[in-house]
Amino acid sequence: MAETQRTARLEIDGKTLDLPIYSPTAGPDVIDIRNLYSEGNVFTYDPGFTSTAACDSSITFIDGARGELLHRGYPIDQLAEKSHYLEVCYLLLYGKLPNADQIEDFENRVTTHTMLHEQMVNFFRGFRRDAHPMAIMVGVVGAMSAFYHDSTDINDPWQREVASIRLIAKMPTIAAWAYKYSTGQPFVYPRNDLDYASNFLRMCFSVPTEDYQVNPILSRAMDRIFILHADHEQNASTSTVRLASSSGANPLACIAAGIACLWGPSHGGANQACLEMLEEIGEVDRIPAFITRAKDRNDPFRLMGFGHRVYKNLDPRAKVMKQSADEVLGLLGVEKNKKLQVAKELERIALEDDYFAEKKLFPNVDFYSGVILEAMGFNTSMFTPIFALSRTVGWISQWKEMIEDPAMKIGRPRQLYSGNTRRDYVDVEDR
Ligand code: ACO
Repeated sequence: MAETQRTARLEIDGKTLDLPIYSPTAGPDVIDIRNLYSEGNVFTYDPGFTSTAACDSSITFIDGARGELLHRGYPIDQLAEKSHYLEVCYLLLYGKLPNADQIEDFENRVTTHTMLHEQMVNFFRGFRRDAHPMAIMVGVVGAMSAFYHDSTDINDPWQREVASIRLIAKMPTIAAWAYKYSTGQPFVYPRNDLDYASNFLRMCFSVPTEDYQVNPILSRAMDRIFILHADHEQNASTSTVRLASSSGANPLACIAAGIACLWGPSHGGANQACLEMLEEIGEVDRIPAFITRAKDRNDPFRLMGFGHRVYKNLDPRAKVMKQSADEVLGLLGVEKNKKLQVAKELERIALEDDYFAEKKLFPNVDFYSGVILEAMGFNTSMFTPIFALSRTVGWISQWKEMIEDPAMKIGRPRQLYSGNTRRDYVDVEDR
């Protein structure tokens, strides 16, 4: 961030304030309003933070108008094609692509932390069998803060490192066990000779009576889904993790807060909601009726997997996901999958419709991911947990960046108060 000579001039009741303007390496300039209250006695009003930069970050950049997503400068489509998830984790965490020795060392460190403390099994068993796996993940990840006391001093770089590696390593085990628990099957322990995605698939689908043979095309598709969800700058769940952590709280508990935020259908829960919507539409000839509903302002129905706060062009992740859907369903011999057909036709019709064009609504990452995950054999309830496990590295990279920033402050938004002004308490008999 470079301070320019330019300032933004603001006049309030005859008083003039000159506010510095900063130029980022990419994206719109930013006006520094930190002294606005002390010098001008006013706040800014920005519900939903549509125009507010809450932090200075060098991890991820999105150009919403062009439909571009960069991690540490590298385009997401190149990473999805040429890299693999743990390499992307390294890139997000440490800011550069690793050399051969560095990635080998990193993979070894992640691999040796994949097991959970055996006592944690009791936490899983405390949940009802029909609990949503996201509910289990919020609870179990939060509970981790009671197990790993040697990595909670956020001011110690080594402890921060251990907490980061533990989270990346254990999240697939937690997500897979949440799934196994909901299906009534025994937990499958991680196997360290498998790569990250294959190990996760095996923990989800292997049973004691029959080992799961991991298909390399499916594990590649799984790995790509992990990459496409790894980070997305200051989205709602990441901002939640930053805000929770800004008080100096336990990092594992803060990640549980991120998982809770991700669960909502406007955010990570959209992949489950999208597949349910495709199921509800059912047939291609029913699409126009749903498009009409999505356009009706009096109907709360929205096309799930469509629209994005930042992208006003095609989400670049959706492009890769659509390709993956064709590959995976082709491999599984289900090219004629009804939901994929409905999804493609829905996308085509919506993109030709003036309403979606005017509002710049395009398919987002969640539009095709559910179709792939379902074809792989996952229940819809597992879609958001898979998003959560993929996004964990983004949350911790952003957390680490925030803790290491000397300018870090506790997050404390202001408000536009519209309640009662001071009034005196009235005794109950006089009300
Ligand atoms: N279907 C129909 N209309 C939509 C949709 C949609 N999916 N998304 C937005 N709109 C309309 C809104 O009704 C609104 O219309 P109006 O101006 O007439 O009131 C306009 O487009 C702008 O919508 P907002 O909700 O103000 O846009 P915002 O940027 O706040 O919301 C969001 C973005 C939440 C993603 C929204 O597009 C949405 O609800 N999409 C469906 C859910 C979804 O797919 N979420 C996943 C997002 S990606 C992720 O988190 C991984």
